[in-house]
Parts: sequence; structure tokens; C-alpha cells
Amino acid sequence: MTTQALLTELYDIPEEIMMEKIQTLKDELGSQVLILGHHYQREEVFHFADVSGDSLKLSQQAAAADAANIIFCGVHFMAETADILTSDQQAVFLPDLAAGCSMADMANDVQVNQCWQELSTVLDAEVKVTPVTYINSTAALKSFCGEHGGIVCTSSNAQKVLTWSWQQKEKILFFPDQHLGENTALAMGVPESDMILWDPNLPLGGNSKQAIEHARVILWKGFCSVHQLFKHEHVVTMRKNHIDIEILAHPECSREVCDTANFVGSTEAIIQYVKAAKEGQKFAIATELNLVNRLRMQYPEKPVWFLSPMVCMCSTMFRTDLQHLYATLLAIKDGDKTHQIIVPDEHKAWAKISLERMLNLV
Ligand code: 13P
Ligand code: SF4
Repeated sequence: MTTQALLTELYDIPEEIMMEKIQTLKDELGSQVLILGHHYQREEVFHFADVSGDSLKLSQQAAAADAANIIFCGVHFMAETADILTSDQQAVFLPDLAAGCSMADMANDVQVNQCWQELSTVLDAEVKVTPVTYINSTAALKSFCGEHGGIVCTSSNAQKVLTWSWQQKEKILFFPDQHLGENTALAMGVPESDMILWDPNLPLGGNSKQAIEHARVILWKGFCSVHQLFKHEHVVTMRKNHIDIEILAHPECSREVCDTANFVGSTEAIIQYVKAAKEGQKFAIATELNLVNRLRMQYPEKPVWFLSPMVCMCSTMFRTDLQHLYATLLAIKDGDKTHQIIVPDEHKAWAKISLERMLNLV
């Protein structure tokens, strides 16, 4: 039976039965399978995660895992990262192969190579620039960073990674998320005048030679379609309506939101912040809806609001449902590789080096 035909059948089965079927199959496969779940996963899928976390924690868990099969309930770049960090005897599966990340799609290797060549017409990029890729990127870009003395970062170690990068070279090329790069550099005291924006659709990214020579941070013009929906006016409204509310934001939000937030951190850091707060503390949170709803359920004594009046959900994280998870477990049981993510050998070695440079910093 094809995956599509199986899924069509599974969609007729009530949720409680699907939950039971998954649990039975998971128990049967036992230690052969490890399920990693990102915090943005929908509740019923998150329930089956053996380990949950942000991108850093989950990549550390993947690197340390000894299960023969790892199911990544997350998005494509996360499964790719796990495949790079695991041994050749282990296999990594993404339940829905169409679960990508729109931000990761905003920089490809052709564009980044073009940028590097253009920078090299102004300065010696190999000598002066450390390329830094946010983990939300393809394996090809992680490989590019490995090969050019660069590194990977996540939302929870960006400051450490930038510090390391400036120890290597005088400038940083940061892709694909403008906001994580900008918010992190600003928090480290880098003035706005030392940063430029690189638009891959414009010659020299839309910059003059002088601006490139002066810059310490070159920010790729990319963003998260979910986090860009949080606005400064939402912060103002929340503070007006709720005295003493604390605003927590993910660093993929724009500068206008992060500048006025009480706390900026990764998904895991936001969870720890709420957990550590005193009873009665109110929060408005600027990150994906599934995580905010989970916090609201887990801590009813600490009222939690979603910062935006709009629904900001990651549609690709949402693609992983019970039916895809069950189909993946079944495929593993049958030795079928349909859902497997295999990073091409041409990218694997250098990508691993850039990831290990990051993991060694933690
Ligand atoms: P975290 O690493 O903070 O979980 O972020 C991942 C992500 O994709 C946020 O949009
Ligand atoms: Fe990508 Fe944004 Fe979804 Fe995170 S929330 S996976 S950055 S699209």
C-alpha cells in the first residue's frame, strides 16, 4: 500500500484509537526507536516525544542517541541536522517530508556562494569574514560554513557563537535570519551603524563598497513568517491592558518587539522562564501558538496570553499529525525507508564540522 493510501485510511480512524495504535507500535519497537519532539508540535504528537526541546537540545540529544531509528517530529532542517550528527548505522525519519521551514528556504547555496564571491570583490572574505548559519538552514549551507571556517548557531547559543566568530575573523556574515543576527548583536552592544543588510536580489546585497568595508555584521535579509507577525503595538496593548505583565519573545521576532520585551530567548529558555516565575505572574508570549497554549495549560496559576491578536502558527510544524507518526512507525517496523532523511555525502562532512564547532562551545 502507498503512504498516501495508508494515510487516507488512517484519517477515518478516531483520535483515541490512533493514540492507542501508536502507543502499541511504539512499545513493540521499544529501544529501536527514539522520538524527538520540538516544542511547536501539536499536543497529541508532542505526547509521544521521548525527548522534547529547542533546536540545540534536540541536536545534542540526536548526537548522543544510540537508537537505531530516530523519528524527528519537527521540520526538515532538524531531521537533516540529526542525520549529520548520528552514525551511518542510524536512520533519521521525518514523518511528513513536506514539513520544511520557510525561513530556511530564504537562503540557498547558490545565493550564499554568490554573496561570498561578491564580498570577495570588496575584501578578502576568506581572511576577514566568518560565515554563521542559523541552524534553520539547509545542510548545504552548514557545509558552506564548515568549509569557510564558519559555524552554526541556534537561538539559545547565538551570543557564544558570535563571540567565537569574532575571535576568528573581524566580520560576520549571518544567514538566513536577519532578526536573530540583529537582536543578538544589539544585545552584545554592537551599534546599529556596524550592521548592514544583505538583499540577495541586489548587486552587493544593496550596499556600497564602503558600507561593506565598515560593517562588522552582514545580515541576510531573511525572516520567519510566523514571528514577523508579532508587532510593537501588540506589546503596547498588552502592557496597557495588564499591569505588571511580562513580555517574553523569541529572538526571531523583529527588533521592535525584542527591544521592549522583558525577556528574549529560545523556546526552551521561554519555558524555563515561565516555570521559574512566581505564582500570579502574568505573561504575554511572542512565539508559536502550540507552545504558548501548552504553557497556558501547564501553568494555570501564571496567566499566559498570546502576544498577537492573530493566530501565529507554524503551518509546517503542524503538518506532523498522528497519522504521519503512525505511518512512520509502521514503515520502520517494515524496514521501509520512505520517511528517511539522508543528507548527501557531499554536504555531510563539512556540515558536521560546522555543527561540531557549535556543539563544542556549549
Ligand atoms: P528554538 O531553537 O528556539 O526552539 O527555535 C526553533 C524555531 O524554528 C523557532 O522558530
Ligand atoms: Fe521555520 Fe518559523 Fe516554523 Fe520556526 S516557526 S520552523 S523558523 S517557519
